[in-house]
Amino acid sequence: MLKEEMVAALNIQMREEFYSSYLYLSMSGYFEQKGLKGFANWMFIQYKEETDHAVKFFNYLKSQSADIKLEAIKEPKHEWNSIPEVFHDTLKHEQYITSCINNLTDLAEKLKDRATYNFLQWFVDEQVEEEENVRDIIDQLNLIGDNKSALFLLDKDLSQRVYTPINQAV
Ligand code: FEO
Repeated sequence: MLKEEMVAALNIQMREEFYSSYLYLSMSGYFEQKGLKGFANWMFIQYKEETDHAVKFFNYLKSQSADIKLEAIKEPKHEWNSIPEVFHDTLKHEQYITSCINNLTDLAEKLKDRATYNFLQWFVDEQVEEEENVRDIIDQLNLIGDNKSALFLLDKDLSQRVYTPINQAV
């Protein structure tokens, strides 16, 4: 049985994952509006993956017969000044999520909660990949600068990303 403090923290993280999905859906909408279909596709897949992350927390709480509390999700930003700004916001957000996961892991250790500690390891690994993917795109955008043809090619490249469902089971 999970300790109350851990249940509360896991519910908050579930909300943060749903907020992530909301934020990336908003970014996908922004790119659609700008006619950048590839960027929009990349963000739409982010949205789906974040929803999977949230459901993974939901399923873990369920497996532990813990109280599940779906909290209000705040409104995400919906306007940006440039493509790089969107990805800098994305990286900042993922770094924040990484710190949340690290804090949860610290709490699991403090409470000697081995089951939750093990559950969180998937997220620890996932965050490394998430940050790396965003940094790669930022690097490419830096190389591209104002080159419209190169931007067109990157948009084409990002349109190739396909959604692979994440195992939501615990
Ligand atoms: Fe679920 Fe991108 O962190």
